[in-house]
Amino acid sequence: MSRLTAVAYTFGVLFFLVSFAFSVFYGYKVMSHDLPEEVGNMEEYKYHFVLVPEELDNDYWRMVEKGAQEAAKDYGVLLEYAGPKQANIDEHLQTIEMSMAAKVDGIMTQGLSDEQFTPLINKVVERIPVITIDTDAANSRRMAYIGTDNYYSGYLAGKALIEDTKGQANVAIITGRFYANHQQLRVQGFQDAVKSEQGIKIITVEESEISRVRAAEKAYQILKDYPEVNAFYGTSALDGIGIAQVVDKYKKNDTIYIIGFDTLPETLDYISKGIIKATVAQEPYEMGYQSVQMMIGLIEGKTVPPIVHTNTRILRAADMPVSHLGGREAGY
Ligand code: BGC
Repeated sequence: MSRLTAVAYTFGVLFFLVSFAFSVFYGYKVMSHDLPEEVGNMEEYKYHFVLVPEELDNDYWRMVEKGAQEAAKDYGVLLEYAGPKQANIDEHLQTIEMSMAAKVDGIMTQGLSDEQFTPLINKVVERIPVITIDTDAANSRRMAYIGTDNYYSGYLAGKALIEDTKGQANVAIITGRFYANHQQLRVQGFQDAVKSEQGIKIITVEESEISRVRAAEKAYQILKDYPEVNAFYGTSALDGIGIAQVVDKYKKNDTIYIIGFDTLPETLDYISKGIIKATVAQEPYEMGYQSVQMMIGLIEGKTVPPIVHTNTRILRAADMPVSHLGGREAGY
């Protein structure tokens, strides 16, 4: 072999090795849709579960993830948190499909709408156990649901608003998504709670698309279009915050009552400043933690209740421990 041929041969082999390594690495990354680094050592884990939320970068879902990761650590599970960065139903459904194709051991996800989620959940559950979390697709064949009793939580919000406004309010509702099961139940529960109150009127119901900016835009528009509105009810975590931004900006917190959902740090700040008057506290951490326990139970053939409702309660400034007034620990 001439020297030139030997050099060319060595380069050829090197090039092949490097490109092979790259394609294995990136092919693996794509197949595993960004699994954490530790996944390389799957023998360390008993099971591999995926938690698919409506929106990855949402403080509420980060809390659910925190609970699920904690349980995963305690029980030797690899927990992957995957889904749309910002709420997007197509990406949400795609992530469920991909998780099924990747043959994970269990999928925890919301059952956002009957039309789109029920057929998919029914397909997946023939191969892989599915638990709905936070939002139930009650008509699907999901194996269990863990989360808030969403109708009851809306009912609680309605009763709190009646109490706080002494039964006199013109209410605008801003809801996350018109099509989402849990948002519909939160509105319905509220409507039922206030329906026999003569002094409470629901003036309009608008959609925020799970976006704080959109919630703020809607709140601004409502105040312009319906000057009689003096109370807002926000049914998903970012709605109350968006409404509060507008009410704060136009210095209307003495005349406008706000009840929201969840206990994100910003919500607690607005409560401590007296802008949001009350919020419906859910237990996202518990939902995450217990969903992992339930999934393990299902796989191991234990009896798992088909519906587990986590706690829901109303939180006002007076109910917040002093350390939380103006504080940032959203440990609720
Ligand atoms: C709901 C979640 C939703 C989140 C949006 C929460 O109140 O329970 O389903 O994704 O709000 O910010």
